[in-house]
Amino acid sequence: MDMNFFLPVKVIFGNGRIRELGSLVVGNRTMIVSDSVLLELGFVSEVKEEAGRTDIIEFCEVEPNPSCETVDRAAKIGREHSVDTIVAVGGGSVMDTAKAVACLMSNTGKIKDYLDGTRTFTSRKVRLICVPTTSGTGSEVTNVGVYTDKSSGVKKPMVSEFFWSDFAIVDPELTFSLPKGVTASTGLDALAHAIESYWAKSSQPVSESLAIRAIDLIMKNLRRACIDGDKESREGLSMASLLAGMAFSQTRTTILHAISFPLTNVYGVPHGFACALAMPEVLKLNYKVIGEKLDILIRYLGFEDVGEFAVAIEDLMIVGEAPRKLSEIGIREEDLDGLVDSSLSSPIAKLNPANIGRKELREIFEHILQ
Ligand SMILES: [Fe+2]
Repeated sequence: MDMNFFLPVKVIFGNGRIRELGSLVVGNRTMIVSDSVLLELGFVSEVKEEAGRTDIIEFCEVEPNPSCETVDRAAKIGREHSVDTIVAVGGGSVMDTAKAVACLMSNTGKIKDYLDGTRTFTSRKVRLICVPTTSGTGSEVTNVGVYTDKSSGVKKPMVSEFFWSDFAIVDPELTFSLPKGVTASTGLDALAHAIESYWAKSSQPVSESLAIRAIDLIMKNLRRACIDGDKESREGLSMASLLAGMAFSQTRTTILHAISFPLTNVYGVPHGFACALAMPEVLKLNYKVIGEKLDILIRYLGFEDVGEFAVAIEDLMIVGEAPRKLSEIGIREEDLDGLVDSSLSSPIAKLNPANIGRKELREIFEHILQ
């Protein structure tokens, strides 16, 4: 068999390891990219302190599902100050924004030129350090960014060889105070990354190994992290999110993420909840095609059969207070055809092992409508 594996990110994992940030910052000017919530909670000033610099520029305006305008605004500030190091402090939206900003600083134009495919990034001179504050996105170890074009309302993923960060500091302590809703949604996002990477047509032995361990850690820790939020379960989820990110950085995701895009864009469902909505149904459908492969995973997790695994996923959705039916988020029967079409327009839908066309997806949606 042929296989490629490439992951050029230096990963620093462990409680309190944010304190190593100062030794990683280079040049004269550092810019922290974050959001207003983390600024308010004091995360930005904490990281600023660890960076050990006084001349740090802050850009804390990243919104969930970052727009092209936000990226361009941050890049303008970075260019004006000739920034040498960018430190992304936050979840997926923040890290995705920082990746694009770092690249735009070494290239001309706006993010839309690159998102449309009119231009391609040819270099990146700015050092990029990612510090995730949630356990889910895995963006710190992927070369993917997702941006929203406000004019069309379309959320579009983009891949670039210059999107790999130089360093990922994964410090579980930064996730200790996450509220339950964020823990649940980001944890289910990580589960989708791992399970989709595992079953993707593009999977290979290294990504499968990472994915299988990530799924096990999530099944063991997500419930506890939602209910107790204890240190050990938080650490388990931080590792799971990292491993899941590594896995899907090699394979991409499949139909669950394809479905999530319209659910988030049109119906405002948080990303992880949107990824999980059809997970039990798609799992059972994929089992009919790659049952033997899924049995390896199911046995590793200690479940009797695929039905028991699907029930365990549903249980996590219940504990996390995630929507389980499309009607709960305002979707009616007459909306299903549109939802099918926009889900299938995403190229990653084709990476799903079972062939899911219009008919099959419509059936899945009817099953989880109410
Ligand atoms: Fe995701």
